[in-house]
Amino acid sequence: MELTGKTAIVTGSGRGIGLGIALAMGREGANVVINDRYLDDARKAAERINAGGGKAIGLAADVTNFDEIEAMVAETLRRFGTVDILVNNAGIESTPMLLKDVPERQWDRVLGVNLKGTFLCCKAVIPVMMRQNKGRIININSLAGRRMTFFGSADYTASKHGQVGLTLHLAWELADSNITVNAICPGATLTPLAEEGTTVEYREMVTKRLIPLGRWCTTDDVAGAAIYFASDRADMVTGQLLDVDGGVMTGYGEDLRAVIRQRMEQVQQAPAGKQ
Ligand SMILES: NC(=O)c1ccc[n+]([C@@H]2O[C@H](COP(=O)([O-])OP(=O)(O)OC[C@H]3O[C@@H](n4cnc5c(N)ncnc54)[C@H](O)[C@@H]3O)[C@@H](O)[C@H]2O)c1
Repeated sequence: MELTGKTAIVTGSGRGIGLGIALAMGREGANVVINDRYLDDARKAAERINAGGGKAIGLAADVTNFDEIEAMVAETLRRFGTVDILVNNAGIESTPMLLKDVPERQWDRVLGVNLKGTFLCCKAVIPVMMRQNKGRIININSLAGRRMTFFGSADYTASKHGQVGLTLHLAWELADSNITVNAICPGATLTPLAEEGTTVEYREMVTKRLIPLGRWCTTDDVAGAAIYFASDRADMVTGQLLDVDGGVMTGYGEDLRAVIRQRMEQVQQAPAGKQ
């Protein structure tokens, strides 16, 4: 087990990617704090870990509210004594629309949860990690932190690019406290929400056009990267963005692969000088 005895706070882990990371960290021997804005979901997730022989507690806190975050960190210290790993996963998507139509309220909410939420959780946990002279911060970013995507509006893209900036800056700032800061950039990931919000046809279209490895990510795919960043194997790794996207960032999905292969064959078969 890679995380025995370590304590991890995973924000927004009542469901989806965060839940996958929390369950995986529990299996690796960590004490897990399941945070969510919905207490019921947090408690149910914690029960799953405890039923499997792990140690977890479910705590409600809104990552946009510093008082609630501080209370969560205090309770974590009371129960487990340390905070070794912070996974900033809580995030919301936005409705795809042109920027001119984005309501100011939506902009504030998306930036508030995805970017300011990361800042506030880091602010609450960093003093604890500095006292320990060790810590791991893992930000769950997105393909939208690497390029623009059509999954949300410019607010989502801006929030995730902002979190990338925070990741790089903090990696430098915290290096002399032996705290590493990295980000995982998942591509399209099949969570219950994604399954409810899209049709099979839409998901197949995204796979064909965008994903060379030919399928959507699972929450376990993302969790595997989080376990790596949290483990001792990543002691010298900081300020990194790890794409877990099935190859989307290479640029060419299955649709274009066929066109490119055809072109390669034509070129290889053509007499020299006729390409
Ligand atoms: N699903 C994808 O395809 C995908 C792809 C790339 C990145 N991501 C990122 O992964 C993260 C998780 O996404 P998901 O798909 O699992 O979403 P999800 O909606 O299934 O889960 C998000 C969880 O965060 C909680 N949450 C939301 N706002 C919160 C707040 N203010 N305080 C505390 N908890 C809050 C929700 O209650 C929910 O349990 C997000 O940061 C998202 O941007 C998702």
